Amino acid sequence: MNIAAISGSLKSTSSNTNILKTIAALAPENVHISIVNGLEKLPHFSPDIEAGDKFVNDFRKQISKAAGVIFSTPEYAFGIPGSLKNALDWLVSSGELNEKPIAAISASPLYSGGDKALASLLLTLTALGTRFDAQSSISIGNIKNKMSPDGTITDAATIQALQSLLNNLMEKISQS
Ligand SMILES: Cc1cc2nc3c(=O)[nH]c(=O)nc-3n(C[C@H](O)[C@H](O)[C@H](O)COP(=O)(O)O)c2cc1C
Repeated sequence: MNIAAISGSLKSTSSNTNILKTIAALAPENVHISIVNGLEKLPHFSPDIEAGDKFVNDFRKQISKAAGVIFSTPEYAFGIPGSLKNALDWLVSSGELNEKPIAAISASPLYSGGDKALASLLLTLTALGTRFDAQSSISIGNIKNKMSPDGTITDAATIQALQSLLNNLMEKISQS
């Protein structure tokens, strides 16, 4: 089972990317979770360059090959980062996310956990035809105190919540 993981943060020390790495390490042997890199290389979405861009084609192929997708995103100015929204816009007309099971996470050093970004992300993922339920998303507040300086998630309750999220996604994929 191949699952793609997309971080909404381009920061090299991103807590959201570290959350995705933690989930990848929690996956059973027969499940491979690969982090999609290079969101910053995608051009700004324009219908005028719909076909032919190498980075867009590679990105679409990676999503197409995945049985499900996990997102983890920070909140920027009460919304999702522009690079993540741009990447999702590239999948609207090509439809790689249509009917695909997803899991979505937001994480923030604030106690609100980036919940507005999560709501916004789920709205966009609804427009894209993805499959998810109430157990498919979590926002994680106070993230800096739940990880060690090297980025490892250390908080037991958070690790448990990430495991449950992954289990729910794998179940949805098996049913599809
Ligand atoms: C431009 C900018 C806007 C931000 N706006 C918010 C916000 O609206 N809500 C929030 O909870 N955190 C906000 N933050 C703080 C981020 O949650 C914080 O930088 C977080 O660690 C980013 O996640 P990352 O470590 O995965 O990059 C903002 C940060 C930046 C740089």
